[in-house]
Amino acid sequence: MTNPENLKKRISSLDRIPTLPVIANQIMQIAQDENKSLRQLVPIIEKDPPLAIKVLKMANAAYYGLRRQVDSLRDAVMILGMDSLYQMALSFSVMKVLETGKMTNAIAWDKFWEHSAAVGHIAELLKKKLQLRAIPNAFSLGLLHDIGKLVFYKLEPEAYSQLIISCAEEDMPLYNGEIEKFGVSHEQIGIWVAEKWQLPTALITSVGYHHRPHEATKEMQLNAALVQIANLVANLNEISFGAGFFQTVPRELSGWKIIQETQAHLAEMDFELFVMSIQDEINHISEIVKLIQG
Ligand SMILES: [Fe+2]
Ligand SMILES: [Fe+2]
Repeated sequence: MTNPENLKKRISSLDRIPTLPVIANQIMQIAQDENKSLRQLVPIIEKDPPLAIKVLKMANAAYYGLRRQVDSLRDAVMILGMDSLYQMALSFSVMKVLETGKMTNAIAWDKFWEHSAAVGHIAELLKKKLQLRAIPNAFSLGLLHDIGKLVFYKLEPEAYSQLIISCAEEDMPLYNGEIEKFGVSHEQIGIWVAEKWQLPTALITSVGYHHRPHEATKEMQLNAALVQIANLVANLNEISFGAGFFQTVPRELSGWKIIQETQAHLAEMDFELFVMSIQDEINHISEIVKLIQG
């Protein structure tokens, strides 16, 4: 039987939900170490060649257009910086557990991965442009925000696939469909699994509150606000998965308010104009993620 309690129990009993790989736990531990160094991180990533390849691909994508090719992890660190490398390594090792590669059904999961990568890059771009220094890991927050959808699929492959299809046909946001059908959204499912995996609080918040950042705890709201906006910007640029149909990033969005109220330097910002002003860069990101996934 499917009801929220039942789904929660199945997540906690690990039914169909794998444990986080050792490598992700190792990376999280190192990330907390104030004296962390490259020497600790690179060997861990090197032990997992598919992960190393993904990190390099992403490093190259981030610098697409530069003449320089990023072909070693050491190069990637030089160019991206330590923190970015940590973020990528952690995010990809988390994503790996939920990978959809062998899922054979009617769902276009490649759109999911495209959307996730785009939200990661857009979150990073927004963070830089808006100078949100308090957020160290915008890319991870964006990349992982919808993992609840993958977990949903793993728990209820048939029923969730049908829901994705019927929501797309009716132009209904998947979020609403989930609540109607299962009594719980991918945000809540995401919180359960992220807590179970003991992911950092900022990540749990992004996974669990990116559709309603104002409901997150005060100290964490900015993380969810950034991802709410990055998610909408990606959807508006048609890099979406189960978004339903809409045309603008609304001015009254709670994420904007949170940013305006907490960031003195942005109190007077016209966000609509701001989003228009970075459209070229967003187009560039869109091209890149399609290139990588394709
Ligand atoms: Fe979502
Ligand atoms: Fe999303």
